[in-house]
Amino acid sequence: MDKMTQIDQAIRTYYQSQNAVSKDLIDAILYSVDSGGKRIRPMILLDLLEGFGIKLTEAHFDVAAALEMIHTGSLIHDDLPAMDNDDYRRGRLTNHKKFDEATAILAADSLFLDAPGLIAEADLEADIKVSLIQMLSRFSGTFGMVGGQMLDMKGEGQSLTLEQVQLIHANKTGALLVFPFLAAGRIAKQSEKVILALGTAGQLLGLAFQVRDDILDVTADFDVLGKTPNKDILADKSTYPALLGVEKSYEILDDSLNQAVAIFQNLEEETDFKAGCILPIIERLRLHA
Ligand code: IPE
Ligand code: IPE
Ligand code: MG
Ligand code: MG
Ligand code: MG
Repeated sequence: MDKMTQIDQAIRTYYQSQNAVSKDLIDAILYSVDSGGKRIRPMILLDLLEGFGIKLTEAHFDVAAALEMIHTGSLIHDDLPAMDNDDYRRGRLTNHKKFDEATAILAADSLFLDAPGLIAEADLEADIKVSLIQMLSRFSGTFGMVGGQMLDMKGEGQSLTLEQVQLIHANKTGALLVFPFLAAGRIAKQSEKVILALGTAGQLLGLAFQVRDDILDVTADFDVLGKTPNKDILADKSTYPALLGVEKSYEILDDSLNQAVAIFQNLEEETDFKAGCILPIIERLRLHA
């Protein structure tokens, strides 16, 4: 079984492990989970662990699944009429369009609240699990993704500075991309110095990822995106292309990816880490003008 399938299996197993309180709720959760996102966040975690020479176990897939659950919940809420008001996600109707708004709100609530429980039940050392749950809470909640989403909402229709947009991107998207880097370092019992380098790489990739998403919003079509294009202009969002133009945004994307690559090449020189595990994911994020 490949890693993507095993991530999906870990989520599915969690939701089928007990008698359902509400089958409708589980159907709505699995509808969004099964819509097939790119799974980049959990894949980063698993690929990095392999880069540190760790043999993957079910517990690692549970941590990866928990991260994807929070991400999927964030997308369900992001698409709600009160937020970005989107009808399509991952090539299918959004959760509230397929079901209804109350179901979508509750499906995302479930995904957020189930994720730490899944980690708590995983077969890992207790102190590592506490640290993973603490980090996941920190990067997804008030001081991470949710905080960034609030700034994003408040920023609609405003003319923001590049610094303000950077802060939005670092939190709404960057934080959940930093988590797999720090989590891998912690699970692999790396030194503070290595974990610091991993965190910096995560921040660079997090910025690159949202700049890429902003570029694609104005350059790609529905078939590529699986979501409606040109939504950011319609909502009058401050994005990198809106502030700096598409050409400059491509440069920033490339430059951030190059800096992340350099961190991993350096790590490979200084430790036993095998950069070949993570570099293909980074290279796939490049967009060529
Ligand atoms: C979309 O994330 C939302 C952003 C944070 C930009 P992804 O592009 O990772 O979405 P999926 O999971 O592949 O659908
Ligand atoms: C989404 O940013 C960030 C989160 C879901 C946390 P966007 O609103 O740009 O993502 P898309 O374009 O709808 O996927
Ligand atoms: Mg949004
Ligand atoms: Mg959106
Ligand atoms: Mg977007």
